[in-house]
Amino acid sequence: MSTVYLNGEYIPKDEAKISVDDRGFLFADGVYEVTPFYEGVPFYLDRHMARLRRGLAWMRIDYDVDQLDEIHRQLLIRNGVDGAETSIVYLQITRGVAPRSHPFPTTPVPPTVYCFAKAWQRPSAEDFERGFRAVTIPDRRWARVDIKTIALLPNVLAYQAAVDAGVTDAIQVRDGVALEGAHNNLFGVFDGTVVTHPATNVILPGITRGVVLELARENGVPVDERPILVEELADADELFFTGTTSEVRPTTQVDGRPVGDGRVGPVTRALAKGFARHVERVKEGMRSEAV
Ligand SMILES: Cc1ncc(COP(=O)(O)O)c(C=O)c1O
Repeated sequence: MSTVYLNGEYIPKDEAKISVDDRGFLFADGVYEVTPFYEGVPFYLDRHMARLRRGLAWMRIDYDVDQLDEIHRQLLIRNGVDGAETSIVYLQITRGVAPRSHPFPTTPVPPTVYCFAKAWQRPSAEDFERGFRAVTIPDRRWARVDIKTIALLPNVLAYQAAVDAGVTDAIQVRDGVALEGAHNNLFGVFDGTVVTHPATNVILPGITRGVVLELARENGVPVDERPILVEELADADELFFTGTTSEVRPTTQVDGRPVGDGRVGPVTRALAKGFARHVERVKEGMRSEAV
């Protein structure tokens, strides 16, 4: 039985109870974060917390995120995943419990804070080599997808469309632009240039996206943050997704057609290796700080 954190307590998951009046349940009135840990070492926790802070401020939910570092650490330890090669802490904060009414509660209520930790598995080397397949689907989300709210129905439907099509990823398309995946950011490689949508209100500003862009620039790989038209997908030499549990994930087929020569391309491969090396450096850095 896993141990979860709910409103100040660490408790067995089956004892965690949330009111039917919780505004997360009634209105999807909340935000969330998913932060990666490698052998218990946080990977850009500060950036995840900064994104969360921005979301909370925009939603006007009053919560001090500074206490979360320790909660993350405790959950990894209490669930025995602090040594796991790859793990995440999921965190969700809703506006709290109040009788159902659209406006914010007039008498302030404490937010509901829920977190859990779990290990996850990277794909095997064979699966990485084969690459992943995606389908394009219409983006049905609202106008502020840069805020990481728990209102994920369009993302759920996008992901299910991929599952129904027998593939692993969905590319969400709006106004002819291939924006991002259901839970990851989309990159293309065109004549050696790495292209991804700029961090505007129509994509989630992925932390992994930011790290990969930094690594590309540091290594002299040309980068262009511009929209990728859906017709351009057929001309891309390479495509890949980035995300907390996707890391750098090659896409070798879209809508049944091969991307480039249908194999994992050299730029994707180099960035995936560079990302893995960077994870090792972060791990080592944190370890030496600790001694
Ligand atoms: C829609 C969407 N885009 C991109 C991402 C990737 O963000 P990150 O790299 O911070 O995991 C996510 C992650 O949940 C997402 O839901």
